[in-house]
Amino acid sequence: MPGMIALVPAAGSGSRFGAPSPKQYLQLNGQPLMRHTLATLAAVPAIERVVVVISPQDEWFDGFDWALPKLEVLRVGGASRAQSVANGLAELACGDDDWVLVHDAARCCLSVAAVERLIAALAGHPVGGLLALPVPDTVKRADAEGHVAATVPRKGLWLAQTPQMFRAGLLARALAAVAAEDITDEASAVERQGLRPLLVEGDAQNFKVTYPRDLALAKAILAARGER
Ligand code: CTP
Ligand code: MG
Repeated sequence: MPGMIALVPAAGSGSRFGAPSPKQYLQLNGQPLMRHTLATLAAVPAIERVVVVISPQDEWFDGFDWALPKLEVLRVGGASRAQSVANGLAELACGDDDWVLVHDAARCCLSVAAVERLIAALAGHPVGGLLALPVPDTVKRADAEGHVAATVPRKGLWLAQTPQMFRAGLLARALAAVAAEDITDEASAVERQGLRPLLVEGDAQNFKVTYPRDLALAKAILAARGER
């Protein structure tokens, strides 16, 4: 049986959020934001290890009590998200056939049910896949002046989320073959290998905290689940 490992890149600085500390360490319902993320991944029975990748210069991680089962820390974050993931993968000490679920630390409203849906959908799949959301709204393309240049048919359009789940060996090879600045998710690196990851329907609650205005929604979602 291949193993199953969650790999959480958390070496970003949160520049768009603009808080004094990176957004993954902001207090959210009594815990650092990222603790909600890590606790959800640790609560998935099929996941054996939860590995968080932080920056070698991180000044915050050691100041909190994480106390979660399965949790491991790697201080090997890089200059980009893709580099942090590639560095983490290189340090994981796992088999080529093990599954790795890469998940953004800042997607703190992930649910156990969504992760289990992804894992179930990919059982026996040759490539891997990702949680994603069919685009719900009408899509417009803008011209240079901000007017509508075209209405883009939304049929077949999906918004990529995480976790993105691939075999460790394939993912490491795919990431090594592209420049880190050319990709914003693992799937696009795998696609460049000529492979077709499976899209598995996620949910709108699994959004990424990016701006200060996103915190109120994250708080409300976690509170409604009884997480404080
Ligand atoms: N990340 C990382 N290493 C980097 C950059 C980002 O591990 N060099 C992580 C972030 O910590 C986050 C995830 O990748 O969990 C998604 O990135 P994003 O939401 O863009 O976070 P930041 O890069 O921190 O934010 P910003 O782009 O606003 O600076
Ligand atoms: Mg970023």
